[in-house]
Amino acid sequence: MPLWLNNNHRNDYKREILHRVCKGNYRKTPQHLSPLQSAPVLESNHPVCPMTILAHISDLHFGRQNPQLVEGLLQGLDQIQPKLVVISGDLTQRARTREFRAARTFLDSLRWPFLVISGNHDIPAYNLAERFINPWKKWRRYLDLPLEPTMQNESYIAIGVNTTRRSSSLFDWSRGRINDTQVRAIAEYFDAQENQSKKLRVLVIHHPFWLPEKYRHRHTIAGRDMAFTAMKKAGVDIVLGGHIHIAYTRVLEGMIISHAGTAISNRLLENSRNSFKIIRGNRKNLTVETWEWSNMRFGITDDQHFRRIQGQWIEKVIKEL
Ligand SMILES: [Fe+2]
Ligand SMILES: [Fe+2]
Repeated sequence: MPLWLNNNHRNDYKREILHRVCKGNYRKTPQHLSPLQSAPVLESNHPVCPMTILAHISDLHFGRQNPQLVEGLLQGLDQIQPKLVVISGDLTQRARTREFRAARTFLDSLRWPFLVISGNHDIPAYNLAERFINPWKKWRRYLDLPLEPTMQNESYIAIGVNTTRRSSSLFDWSRGRINDTQVRAIAEYFDAQENQSKKLRVLVIHHPFWLPEKYRHRHTIAGRDMAFTAMKKAGVDIVLGGHIHIAYTRVLEGMIISHAGTAISNRLLENSRNSFKIIRGNRKNLTVETWEWSNMRFGITDDQHFRRIQGQWIEKVIKEL
């Protein structure tokens, strides 16, 4: 439990999260709970409201990592005790052997289940022969992980889709694509699971479906419109992505789109901080927290609240007290 919350404040914060997530009773964080204080640990099978806690980290870029941030991230996750750690690609900087080994060591240090997908930086950028013939050779050799993983428990179903390509029509290796075979597989996987209608449906991709105005030059994923229509039909609740190294969360056509920044690397954009996201809740109510690096530790700097009504997610505006 976080040391900087006394018992009264810790209990206040627990009640606050339960109000927000279980009862949909949203209100501003009480004054005495600074946004930079840590959130409490809540059980996923709480009797009032079965809920899950997902940690979403991205763009680790081993090779450009900061060891203090790695330690701070692990400490943050230790406080939060997520049910799943989602890593949405770019584990390495240049897909070098030593970077994959560092990524493997990091994954081995996680004490929670994890779901990992690749990003464009996890295939060779300059070794064209390797990129076109066997781009995921080192991914397979050193990480030994599937490119399109799935995970689930009693409260969520998560599927990772590999949106990284050897090249694009513009010969740009950094641009991503999703195709109709992948989209069909998402719907089939969700539909095939037990009690699937009650479980939060999580889709993990690397490339963005939406970009803030300032970053439109980075391009959204190819195949976006086709995929979006199918994803809505498949009942996707939340899409978790990375790639642009900025953190944002918003609703787009009834689905929540959430991107984490780079968690531990020095590849920061101007005026951005290292960050990750924490998703708490269930298929009725979700809270998405932004955790950012400040004063040598990660802490919450923003929390957004969402409610699902008739299959559509909406963002709740929190009433001022
Ligand atoms: Fe990246
Ligand atoms: Fe990327």
